[in-house]
Amino acid sequence: MKSQIIATIAALVPYVLGFPHLADFPEYRSLAGLSQEEVRAVTRQYGGNMPGPQPLPPPITDTSGKLVNDAAHPFKPLRPGDIRGPCPGLNTLASHGYLPRNGVVTPAQIITAVQEGYNLGHQFASFLCYTAFIADGNHLTNLMTIGQNTTTHGQPTTGINTHGHFEGDASMSRDDAFLGNNFNFNETLFDAFQEAADAVGGGLLTFPAVVLNRQIRNNDSIARNPQFTFESPRFLGAIAESAFIFAMFVSNQTVDNQTPLTIDAVRHFFDIHRLPDGFHRRQGPFEFPLIENLTFSIVDLAGAKPGRNNGVNNFIVDEQDLGTVRFCYVYQKQVNFTATLYPDPTPELRAAIKQNLLTYYQALGKPECEQFFPFGR
Ligand code: HEM
Ligand SMILES: *[C@@H]1O[C@H](CO)[C@@H](O)[C@H](O)[C@H]1NC(C)=O
Ligand SMILES: *[C@@H]1O[C@H](CO)[C@@H](O)[C@H](O)[C@H]1NC(C)=O
Ligand SMILES: *[C@@H]1O[C@H](CO)[C@@H](O)[C@H](O)[C@H]1NC(C)=O
Ligand SMILES: *[C@@H]1O[C@H](CO)[C@@H](O)[C@H](O)[C@H]1NC(C)=O
Ligand SMILES: *[C@@H]1O[C@H](CO)[C@@H](O)[C@H](O)[C@H]1NC(C)=O
Ligand SMILES: *[C@@H]1O[C@H](CO)[C@@H](O)[C@H](O)[C@H]1NC(C)=O
Repeated sequence: MKSQIIATIAALVPYVLGFPHLADFPEYRSLAGLSQEEVRAVTRQYGGNMPGPQPLPPPITDTSGKLVNDAAHPFKPLRPGDIRGPCPGLNTLASHGYLPRNGVVTPAQIITAVQEGYNLGHQFASFLCYTAFIADGNHLTNLMTIGQNTTTHGQPTTGINTHGHFEGDASMSRDDAFLGNNFNFNETLFDAFQEAADAVGGGLLTFPAVVLNRQIRNNDSIARNPQFTFESPRFLGAIAESAFIFAMFVSNQTVDNQTPLTIDAVRHFFDIHRLPDGFHRRQGPFEFPLIENLTFSIVDLAGAKPGRNNGVNNFIVDEQDLGTVRFCYVYQKQVNFTATLYPDPTPELRAAIKQNLLTYYQALGKPECEQFFPFGR
């Protein structure tokens, strides 16, 4: 008994004395910004639960369009502490149990769940997941959250909410971080779907309506957010997300994209994080060539350009971003950005990030893109 107490006190001493602000550091929180000593203090609290980087999971084998709002995956309301965030796709998967309902996930769980639930293609799912994970995940515990807006000891905890990492401005249903809450549903912004559908879609979210919605959202941020930032990875991310609703929020979708998308269906995902009744995932994977085609079509039709505001209504185009092979550039920017988040990692953390960056390049799946090794080969 006495020796147990002494052992407990001994285990607490290093961080209680040196790093009280790191007590109860959640195992899913990113280690970015910590010194080597802080990383060591934090990892002592994990109790050995540090699986580190893991390989990509295999693709699912059955990619038919099938009922996914089924008895095995019932919607359940949030319990206290469950984490949701800015992604309607992931929020909905968590609320139906395709992802852990608490919102704390591994990359492999995300990659498998988005295939199972929506038939997002394995390659693009892996790429998207690692674009978020390398910046917002914990490289040692292999965990990330799909949101997280609480604070631990006065510090905001990270997750995919983290502004400027992957989350960004001109979202369809969430406010710009400069203007307000960047992860909760916002009805005022959502109204732009109805406006676009009424103007050009006969009340439905046809492809032209999705394009017009993107224009409305971009123009709103240009007009109201003096710090509006719309550069890769956010630039293509935002536009791919417009393509996502068109290609994956329609029940039983075929490759021809002929089924009309309703405002009601979209609201289910964006607002209440719930699959519509009888929802069937799309028929066949939504994968890279098709995603690029749809995304670049929206870029062209919406006249969207990468860049940033220097004061309201003063949008400066980023010419380098505009003129570069696009998904290669997203990868390159995100790798470089991640390097800035970890200027002085412990050897163990460095090895883990290096491995996850190799996995990220594999997830990109484009041998024509130059590979970068800021943490060594
Ligand atoms: C594969 C892993 C995924 C990750 C890591 C991810 C991450 C994110 C993040 C960080 C955002 C916030 C961007 C922003 O608006 O600032 C976001 C938005 C969004 N995501 Fe996901 N997502 C994933 C998969 C999906 C899937 C499978 C779908 C649809 C089936 C989806 C649909 C959306 C949509 C529509 C938005 C835009 C929300 C808005 O603009 O209001 N995502 N996602
Ligand atoms: C955090 O997010 C949840 C769910 O999105 C929301 O209900 C809650 O009000 C948010 N809390 C804060 C402090 O913003
Ligand atoms: C929703 O967004 C609008 C426009 O930015 C903002 O004025 C409003 O306060 C937001 N509403 C909530 C509940 O955050
Ligand atoms: C957005 O702004 C651009 C540039 O001013 C303009 O050409 C376009 O018509 C605007 N779109 C909408 C929907 O307001
Ligand atoms: C899904 O679409 C296919 C044709 O593409 C059709 O045969 C099938 O009946 C549809 N299923 C449902 C549930 O609507
Ligand atoms: C790309 O999209 C256009 C329409 O936007 C379509 O005509 C073309 O066939 C598509 N190409 C591929 C490879 O999907
Ligand atoms: C990324 O970093 C590499 C080398 O560290 C550099 O050559 C490249 O220009 C950077 N790219 C971007 C987009 O910052």
